[in-house]
Order: sequence, then structure tokens, then C-alpha cells
Amino acid sequence: MKQFTSVNDLPSLPEALAWAKEVKANPFAGRKSGKDKTLLLVFFNSSLRTRLSTQKAALNLGMNVIVLDINQGAWKLETERGVVMDGDKSEHILEAIPVMGSYCDIIGVRAFAGLQDREQDYKEIILNQFIRYSGKPVFSMEGATRHPLQSFADLITIEEYKKTPRPKVLLTWAPVPKALPQAVANSFAEWINRTDYEFVITHPEGYELDEMFVQGATIEYDIEKAYRGADFVYAKNWSAYTGGNYGKVLHTDRRWTVDERKMALTNNAYFMHCLPVRRNMIVTDAVIELPTSIVIPEAANRAVSAQVVLREMLKH
Ligand code: CP
Repeated sequence: MKQFTSVNDLPSLPEALAWAKEVKANPFAGRKSGKDKTLLLVFFNSSLRTRLSTQKAALNLGMNVIVLDINQGAWKLETERGVVMDGDKSEHILEAIPVMGSYCDIIGVRAFAGLQDREQDYKEIILNQFIRYSGKPVFSMEGATRHPLQSFADLITIEEYKKTPRPKVLLTWAPVPKALPQAVANSFAEWINRTDYEFVITHPEGYELDEMFVQGATIEYDIEKAYRGADFVYAKNWSAYTGGNYGKVLHTDRRWTVDERKMALTNNAYFMHCLPVRRNMIVTDAVIELPTSIVIPEAANRAVSAQVVLREMLKH
């Protein structure tokens, strides 16, 4: 596998889920496969889980790891070609990327959406520049439109906890005052659409996601109807995608906060969120502290999804 930016890059999703089980059973089985190989993790945005879990995965495989935070200590990068660089940006990304590629064997990149220009964001310019100019296999640690390592970990978690072969999985929008990208929700939808689960998405009107990711999922605007009988409730905020509202916060209606009253409508559902989560905006203290809240095992599975992906990339 030379690149990993979406579920479509995996040779086989069922095999990847089987490898995840193997990695969990014996995390150090592949520790020789990464010997003398260097992983570079490039962060254009903050991270706790991705930063730690991907390093942990690489260490389990015997790799060396270098981490670069672009906004802390690196030169300010120009990303557009043709710009006269007479401002505060000292280096062009078109030199920086091949230089970074010369120091490593595999590169992970985190570069969020700017949320100003939908067309630009959905072209995944930074991620694609790394793929094109680094000369090395590249994987996404969350791009402008997808967060595949997160979605893979989410699916591993659902497979571990599901009580029926075809659980009802609910993706619910929940309020946050700051504009956040659609990447986690897009990606979650894309991965869940590759299963035969019953998949329902609920959000206020105006928060419709790109149809490319939603595909055949049921959209239910009636919150109570959406929650009824759910086996998993996956909460996430995202800013508006459609119309002229791209990147905007349309409202912060706490009727959409995941609370005990709504969870009581479910089939004793597990609560999931990718974290970090704003308590009492996205989810109440009570719900996230329930025994059925599986946000910690979900986060722990980030190291598993990363290890499966790195293992595949090391084969090239
Ligand atoms: N879920 C997730 O990607 O967490 P971080 O932003 O902390 O890496």
C-alpha cells in the first residue's frame, strides 16, 4: 500500500479488520519489519491521540520516528505555486516536501481544512502535494475531508462491541461554538457505508454532508426517531458544507447534545466520539461517564489502526 487517505486505499477491508485482531493479540509480532526504517509525522494542526498512537504503532514495529510540527519551529510555508514570496513565508512547500522525504521512508501528514473555500479544501492540496512530491509512501493523519485512521479505529471498536451482526449505528451532529471540519463525519460515513450495518445520520437542516460520503445512509431529521433502537451513538460536530454556508456555524442548539433522555430511547447504545470532546456541548458528563461510553477503548484502537496501516506500507 503506497498511500492511505481513505478506505478505498486498503487492499481489503475484511482483511484489515482481521489484521487488527492479530495486532491486538500480539502487538510486537511485526517488530522486525520496521527495523532501520524511519517514519516522519508532519503536523500542520494540533493533536494528542494521532500523535501518540501513531508513534506507539511505529515503535511496536521497530521503526524510528521523527515528528515535525510545522507551526512550531519550522519555516513558514508557502503552499501556492506562482506566488511572489515577498511576505512572511520563507520556504515553499515544493522544496520542503522532497527535503522531508529524503530523511524518511514513510510520511504521515495532518493538514485540516481551512473552511474558507470548499473547492480548495476538497482538493486536499497539501496531502496530494506530499503524495506527489515526497517520493515516499504517504498516509493521512486527518486531511481536509477525511480522517481514515480514526474511522478504521471506530470500525474496529464497533466490531468488538456489537451484540448483533447488523447493529443500528447512529451518527449524530452535536453543537460546538467553533467551526470544525466535516472530515471525521465524512470519513465515518464512508467507512460505515462499506459495512452492512443499519446506518442513520441525524443533524439539523443545513448541516447536510457531501453526498459522496453519505451515499445510501438514512438521513433522519427527527432526533427521537433517529435515536430509537440505536446500538451505537457516534457524536460529532461539523460546520456547514452546503450552499453558501461552507465552514459556518449555523447554530449551537443544545437540543442536539447527547444526553440521558435521548440515550434512553436507544437499545442501551454504546456512546462513541473521536475525542477531544466538549463536555455538556457534544455530550453530557453523565453520558460520557456511563459504562456504555466506549470513547477510551475507541481511542486506544487508534494505535491498532495505525499499526495495521504502517505494516501494509512497510511491505513496499
Ligand atoms: N481523534 C483525534 O484525531 O484526536 P487528536 O486530534 O488528538 O489527534
